[in-house]
Amino acid sequence: MKPQTHPKTYRVKSFGCQMNVYDGERMGEMLDEQGLAPAPDGEDADLVVLNTCHIREKAAEKIYSDIGRLTKGKTQTKAPMIAVAGCVAQAEGEEIMARAPAVSMVVGPQAYHRLPDMLDKAVQGERATDTDMPAIAKFGALPARKRRSPTAFLTVQEGCDKFCTYCVVPYTRGAEISRPFSDLIDEARKLIEAGAREITLLGQNVNAWGGEDTKGHSVGLAGLIHALAKLDGLERIRYTTSHPNDMDDALIAAHGEVEQLMPYLHLPVQSGNDRILKAMNRAHTAESYLRLLERFRGVRPDIALSGDFIVGFPGETEAEFEDTLSIVDEVRYAQAYSFKYSPRPGTPAATMDNQIAPEIMDERLQRLQARINRDQLAFNAATVGRTCDVLIERKGKLPGQWLGKSPWLQSVFFEGDFELGDLVTVDLVEGRGSSVRGVPVQPAKAQATA
Ligand code: 5AD
Ligand code: SF4
Repeated sequence: MKPQTHPKTYRVKSFGCQMNVYDGERMGEMLDEQGLAPAPDGEDADLVVLNTCHIREKAAEKIYSDIGRLTKGKTQTKAPMIAVAGCVAQAEGEEIMARAPAVSMVVGPQAYHRLPDMLDKAVQGERATDTDMPAIAKFGALPARKRRSPTAFLTVQEGCDKFCTYCVVPYTRGAEISRPFSDLIDEARKLIEAGAREITLLGQNVNAWGGEDTKGHSVGLAGLIHALAKLDGLERIRYTTSHPNDMDDALIAAHGEVEQLMPYLHLPVQSGNDRILKAMNRAHTAESYLRLLERFRGVRPDIALSGDFIVGFPGETEAEFEDTLSIVDEVRYAQAYSFKYSPRPGTPAATMDNQIAPEIMDERLQRLQARINRDQLAFNAATVGRTCDVLIERKGKLPGQWLGKSPWLQSVFFEGDFELGDLVTVDLVEGRGSSVRGVPVQPAKAQATA
């Protein structure tokens, strides 16, 4: 590759999960430190970082079409320098380098703190791949947080030891690692100083987080949440994604004790059928999952529940799929995500017998999504009449309109003389599809009422 001029502007395009969004922000902060600036919307960037997702086939294939569009001038007028980051980089680094000569850098999710060095090399004309997985080294090497935003992500835990038989995460993100308690409190303080009023704690198995508090006591995620709740200026705490088997009594209890902990829980179940759950290596049953949700509802009756589902896992029969519909009927999720099973290379399920035909998967997904949508509309309709705080995250489409989230993570829109980051008390007056219309209550602030 020929030497290139040092890029002045950059764009990070993150795909997939919120952990990728977090990683994308941190890569941006490093590039800022190196003297680059984010490319203004609609303008060419000199460097484009594609921060990829490998969880399903479609997500992984997207990267090659994106590279093609960037080099052929379809996305911007001038071809940029390209870096591929994220889980596809981790899983297919060598292949990307061989298949896409336009790519200068390939960097895995545990190695992106080395991006600035790689960029210096790329400018000299040297292509570089770094997919090492050093335990947690990257966080210490990253610059301090300073992005201004009312909502922020904070990665507290990474990796996964669960080895669900369909999932690539244990291979791309590595073993479960918890970041140290004091580092997290420091990073949260920086985020609050930069304007964050809500922090979402992130991890592939966030509720497997564990550490030692400042007194040297072992604490789980609940202990971290209690400590964060004491920080001045932090109004809201959320966490995602949890695994049913890592739930402990303290975390359930925290939902009844910590005012800042929002009444929302994302707890994937994947299937409502015990034979499929076993084949998925989920190590819980439909019944044990339902009992767990009851405990959350016991301490926080208004809690909004969310989940993930996979349809068409190898061997799934119609009757087994109907168990998934039944669990949805039973839980009545406020929102949920559902996916067609996608065989991932190297995972045990990819070579199982009885892979399900695509048209059966399509049909099952449609039936499942119809129920999930039904319940989301019902949840939104049931909240009409409540008064709650909404944290403004952005401007709405119409002049004078604002968009933010309710405590139950619904998108709420309303009008009035406010600014980004305001916590506005609104009456929820009308469910409109996946969002809710609100009317501000004057004067400000009251507590959410169920
Ligand atoms: N195929 C389809 N969906 C998957 N997920 C993870 N792996 C696969 C796969 N191979 C889904 C699960 C998980 C979510 C993040 O993505 O539902 O909870
Ligand atoms: Fe993947 Fe299962 Fe780990 Fe979630 S718990 S990241 S689905 S292996």
